[in-house]
Amino acid sequence: MSDYNEQTLTEAVINRVAATPDPRLRQIMTSLVKHLHGCVREVRPTWEELLAGIQFLTAVGQKCDDKRQEFILLSDTLGVSMLVDLISYGKVGNATESDLLGPAWVEGAPELPLGSNLAEHPSDGEPCVITGSVASLDGTPLAGAVVDFWETDGDGFYDLQKPDGPNLRARLRTDASGQFWFRGVRPVCYGIPTDGPVGAMLRATNRHNMRAAHLHFMISAPGHARLVTQLFLTGDQYLDSDAVFGVKESLVVDCERVETREEAAKYQVEAPFYRMHYDFVLKSAQA
Ligand code: BEZ
Ligand code: FE
Repeated sequence: MSDYNEQTLTEAVINRVAATPDPRLRQIMTSLVKHLHGCVREVRPTWEELLAGIQFLTAVGQKCDDKRQEFILLSDTLGVSMLVDLISYGKVGNATESDLLGPAWVEGAPELPLGSNLAEHPSDGEPCVITGSVASLDGTPLAGAVVDFWETDGDGFYDLQKPDGPNLRARLRTDASGQFWFRGVRPVCYGIPTDGPVGAMLRATNRHNMRAAHLHFMISAPGHARLVTQLFLTGDQYLDSDAVFGVKESLVVDCERVETREEAAKYQVEAPFYRMHYDFVLKSAQA
C-alpha cells in the first residue's frame, strides 16, 4: 500500500509513466508531471482554485472552432509559441530570424507579378511600397524565391475578418537578382481577440492585447529552409510589450515617409507614401 507525501507522490506518478513505449512521449510526460507538481507545491492551490483552472482550460477548448484557435492564442500570449520559435529556428550566421506564423496565413494566396498593388481600395490604408531581396547565407541572390506576404488593412483587420475575399496578401517571385517589390499599406498596431478566456486572462493580469505593427512573410526557395517571419516598425509604441512577445530587434525596420513626386513616380504611387525595405537571408535546408 502506498502512503505518499508531497515528494513521493510526484515520484510515483513519474514511475507510472516510465513504461511509456515512445521515448519522446515518455520524456514529455515525465517533465510535464515534474513541473506541474512543482507548480502545485509552490502555489498550494485551494480546491476552488484548481476548479477555476480546470474551468478556464475548458472554456479555452469551448472557444475553439474551425476559425478560432484559442489554445494557440493562449500559447502565444504566454510566450510559449515564441519559446518554441527560438528553440526550433535559432540563430545561424546572418540568416534572417524567424517569427510566429499567426492565425492569418492562408495557403494559396493570389500569385501576383512584382510591382503589384495589393491595396486597391482607398480604404485599405496609407500606401506603403515594400521592397526587399532574398539571398542565401553566402550572399548569393535567390532568383525565383517565393515571397508569401500578408498584412492587415489600416484599420487592423485581416481580409479573413471581412467578407470581400483576398486582400493585402499575395505570393510574388523574386526577379533574376533576387529582388522583390510591391505596394501594400503602412502596417498598424492591432488588438488580438479578447472576447474569449484568453482576453479574460489578459484583463486579470493587467495586460493589453495589442500587437506591435507588423508585416508577415513566408519565404521559400529550393535547397533552403522555409522562413516564416515578421517585420516591425522603428518607434512603434508596442515594440517592448507586444502581446505575443513577437518582436526581435533584427526584424525592426524604418518605415520612411517619402514626400517627393519623383520617388513616387518610380513606384507608380502618389506622394506622400511610405517605404520599407528588408534584405532577407535564408538558411540552407540542412543548416
Ligand atoms: C498575428 O500576427 O497575426 C498574430 C500572432 C499571434 C496571435 C494573434 C495574431
Ligand atoms: Fe499579424
